[in-house]
Amino acid sequence: MCNLAIQLFLKMSQNTHEKGKISWQSPSNIALIKYWGKHGTQLPCNPSLSMTLSASITNTSISYLKKQHADKSVVLQFYFDGKRSEVFEKRIAVYFHHIIDEFPFLSDYQFKIESSNTFPHSSGIASSASAFSALALCIMSLNEIVTGTLNKNAFYQQASQLARLGSGSAARSIFGGYTVWGQVEGMDAYSDIYARPLLSEIHPVFQSYHDAVLIVSEKNKKIGSSTGHALMEKNPFAEARYRQAMDHTLEMLQVLKTGDTEKFVKIVEQEAMTLHGLMMSSDPGYVLMKQGTIEIMDRIRDFRRKQQIPVAFTLDAGPNVHLLYPATYREMVLNFINKELLHFCNARQWIDDSIGKGPKLMNE
Ligand code: DP6
Repeated sequence: MCNLAIQLFLKMSQNTHEKGKISWQSPSNIALIKYWGKHGTQLPCNPSLSMTLSASITNTSISYLKKQHADKSVVLQFYFDGKRSEVFEKRIAVYFHHIIDEFPFLSDYQFKIESSNTFPHSSGIASSASAFSALALCIMSLNEIVTGTLNKNAFYQQASQLARLGSGSAARSIFGGYTVWGQVEGMDAYSDIYARPLLSEIHPVFQSYHDAVLIVSEKNKKIGSSTGHALMEKNPFAEARYRQAMDHTLEMLQVLKTGDTEKFVKIVEQEAMTLHGLMMSSDPGYVLMKQGTIEIMDRIRDFRRKQQIPVAFTLDAGPNVHLLYPATYREMVLNFINKELLHFCNARQWIDDSIGKGPKLMNE
């Protein structure tokens, strides 16, 4: 009987090596201190700091099947929302080739990758962060299965490093709460190679923050983030910007500890304006803000002045506005959004998001 059980176990584990499926869900994040400018192999020119979200999520699963004949090729199919996407398939194949020396099993199997987002695909919210963090976590889990190595501590750090190679901001989505990616002056803990959750304690006011994502436009961006990062190489203000980002990071680490919401507003908005200022001052310069973006930013500032509430806006590399606010003011802010902001949004669309706990393994 005992022998039978062992045989059964061995057969099962052999099967999991032959074929199987692994699924992760991973959230997007909103940068408070922006990553804009990179060098080398996806290394940031300055530290960035973000809040991981909870509602804007990518679900990804990888089905794997051992190849009949071993060769060095990467064989994969990619489905987004149930539909095959060759554009993404190519990008992921390039990514797999890029990491294959570290994960040689990627050429031993054929893969079917299925992915979907909880937010509208073209809503302009950073889908590469949730997408590449979910994919990196699936690869890490597969690595555990195939190699039989388990190291919980190293798992997330390596996942973050792997996610970074797909998309810089994805490195931060591996962790919940607030996350730092990039070396910070005077602190050994933070690295350019991977992101880490904030080391210090977070003041209660920042533990339950909300992010209302106001969708001004759903259209695809004229200039993608990768092109934008590259334009920083010749931007005349680059060095001053990297200095500013370092200072803002150091200040923000204090702010999150002490609960200084006034300073939070100041830094976060300055970061958003600087990001778009850098786009305008690139060669060629470009503008991603729309009229609605500016209207919403103006109204948020008016609302803050009138109500004395620490609401702040921030922007990604696109026209949509993220309205950040502490949970205590939720009712007032929801009213404000309904009355004053929704008519600037495309089809009155917005995403009611908030700080989240990070990715989840879906098939433990
Ligand atoms: C403005 O992470 O999308 O959202 O590394 O080329 O994939 P790649 O760029 P990406 O850049 C994000 C830029 C940003 C700011 C941020 O999230 O820090």
